Amino acid sequence: MSEMITDIGIDLGTATVIIYVKGKGIVLKEPSVVAYDTRTGKVFCVGREAYTMIGRTPDRIRAVKPLDQGVISDHELCEKMLQYFLKKVYQNALLKPRVALCVPSAITDVESRAVVEAAVKAGARKVYLIEEPVAAAIGAKIDISKPSGSMVLDIGGGTADIAVLSLSGIVQKESVKIGGDRFDQAIVRYLRERYGLLVGEKMAEQVKREIGTVAQEPGDDSFEVKGRNLSTGLPEKRTVTAKELQPCLLEMAEQIVQAMQAVLERTPPELVGDISTAGIVMTGGGSLLRGMDELVQKRLRVTARVAEEAEDCVAIGTGRCFEYIDQLSEDVIRYAVNR
Ligand SMILES: Nc1ncnc2c1ncn2[C@@H]1O[C@H](COP(=O)(O)OP(=O)(O)OP(=O)(O)O)[C@@H](O)[C@H]1O
Ligand SMILES: [Mg+2]
Repeated sequence: MSEMITDIGIDLGTATVIIYVKGKGIVLKEPSVVAYDTRTGKVFCVGREAYTMIGRTPDRIRAVKPLDQGVISDHELCEKMLQYFLKKVYQNALLKPRVALCVPSAITDVESRAVVEAAVKAGARKVYLIEEPVAAAIGAKIDISKPSGSMVLDIGGGTADIAVLSLSGIVQKESVKIGGDRFDQAIVRYLRERYGLLVGEKMAEQVKREIGTVAQEPGDDSFEVKGRNLSTGLPEKRTVTAKELQPCLLEMAEQIVQAMQAVLERTPPELVGDISTAGIVMTGGGSLLRGMDELVQKRLRVTARVAEEAEDCVAIGTGRCFEYIDQLSEDVIRYAVNR
């Protein structure tokens, strides 16, 4: 059946692709993973199904993240993934929709043209590209049009993006390649060095979500990790605690806080004053790490809060950017295709 879909927002993230449709809300949320046949190049499956295959594929199949550390590591697969998701969302659309895309901040113009082209091939009428912190702020219900400074921190899978916004524009920004993936890798490294236990990144991510914390008081949560003993080569289970993992996670988190501090130092004093009144808003899945808000608050001496629906903010803001399109300047949102 055909349906009316007019405006779509897509957060093309390193870890997750999230699609928002006007009038419907979030309609798709799937891991940014593609599994393909290494001999023929044929795509096997995309998204959730492909995610379950990571680290579990035979030689013939590879499950990869086409976006890695906030950049496109595989163009062709990235395009295929995007097209697959878009078709899932609007293959029956009566009118060709307008699409706003939020891509990782480090991707180049050539790379963004490739994803824009993928959106067009999948049937978009107009395509816009929006800056991630602005989308995050709109999604977190911050009134960005005011002549008042707000600070947004988005911690994704690949990067942490920090920005100071005022009057619908970006005053200062910084992107550091420290996102949730780096926290997972820190856990993998710790377990290998401390116990000679080899675990996959997916297991490490699970540990992080279950018990990971950067809080001063880590609590006494623990988790049974499954991996392989490096000296015996045999499977092994081991109970790890939140407390012992805290230092390696904290080391990553501190680097994000340092980048935030550098941004604040470059921010004009009037706006710093506004930020200390309004507080810092945190978005992205990585912001959900326990104690992260507390750490930001303690180090920067400014209130920090995790936005509602933190993981979805960028997608929501990207989808709703059409409501603000007239007030947003070209350095924040630009036309990529207009037919
Ligand atoms: N409860 C949680 N605690 C800690 N980390 C979490 C939690 N939930 C999700 N994450 C982490 O958040 C990250 C994904 O966040 P998000 O979906 O915002 O990334 P993304 O937008 O795809 O990436 P990017 O913006 O870097 O391109 C993953 O590393 C995931 O492990
Ligand atoms: Mg993101």
